[in-house]
Amino acid sequence: MSLEVTVVGSVNMDLVATTPTLPAPGETVLGHGFSTVPGGKGANQAVAAARAGGRTAFIGAVGSDGFGTELRSALELSGVDIDGLRTVPGPSGVALIAVDDAGENSIVVAPGANGELRNLTVEDRGRIAAASVLVCQLEVPLLAVLEAARAAREAGTRVVLNAAPARELPAELLSLVDLLVVNEGEARTLADTEATDPGSLIDALVRVVPHVVLTLGGAGSVYGDRGGRRETVAAPKVTVVDTTAAGDSFTGALAVAWAEGRDLPEACRWASAAGGVTVQRPGATSALPGRAEIDDLYEVTYP
Ligand code: RIB
Repeated sequence: MSLEVTVVGSVNMDLVATTPTLPAPGETVLGHGFSTVPGGKGANQAVAAARAGGRTAFIGAVGSDGFGTELRSALELSGVDIDGLRTVPGPSGVALIAVDDAGENSIVVAPGANGELRNLTVEDRGRIAAASVLVCQLEVPLLAVLEAARAAREAGTRVVLNAAPARELPAELLSLVDLLVVNEGEARTLADTEATDPGSLIDALVRVVPHVVLTLGGAGSVYGDRGGRRETVAAPKVTVVDTTAAGDSFTGALAVAWAEGRDLPEACRWASAAGGVTVQRPGATSALPGRAEIDDLYEVTYP
């Protein structure tokens, strides 16, 4: 078995309410729509990678409830290898998401089964070793992420960590990361700084990992490495409907492009096109583009 990408991470059912404005603490607002869609940063990134054309395996956990059955089949239908997906007793992960009229969101995740992901099997290690790139995020226990990163390093598989949601990380995990993908808030948490300019954030982060991509939403992204290379990538100019999973779309496509041998700034441009298609549609996995759609937006944005 040869794979471009193996993802170790979360899978959630997203309960999405659309609303004119996001509620402030203590406030109730009247929304205008509701939908239930498969999501979770790990599952979104796996589906993003598969739709972008990468052979992709997913290692994660769903619960023994009805959501678990739906989430399992949604992943399978997207062409992701789910032999590493466990079903554990209890509820599946759920994300409560509010999306406002400008496409901004706020999200609360109740991890459920994701919190039970631990102890990689021999087969899981095989899926990590068979991939060019391992992709992890931080919605599953840190020990599972650490175990996966150790297995990747041992096998010579490159490690991409999308350090979301923001939290401090042990030095050992950071020492195993080849490429860190973070937004500004996550970057500040990891670098333990109040700095706001991308240059300072990247300078701080390349002291601990060799390659960094700082995502800046509508302002694009900045790539930096330890050798002093810095490249800013503009985001495609598109009409934003919903930013949910835009970062996941970016990370999944970035992993595929890197696995295929593109250099990282070039991979960032292609990944930005993937994110640019995603924000034009509502939902998480439902919004993720296929390879031809990514190529089309890439060609008009970066001629
Ligand atoms: O990144 C978007 C995802 O974050 C949503 O799909 C939700 O499940 C949360 O994990």
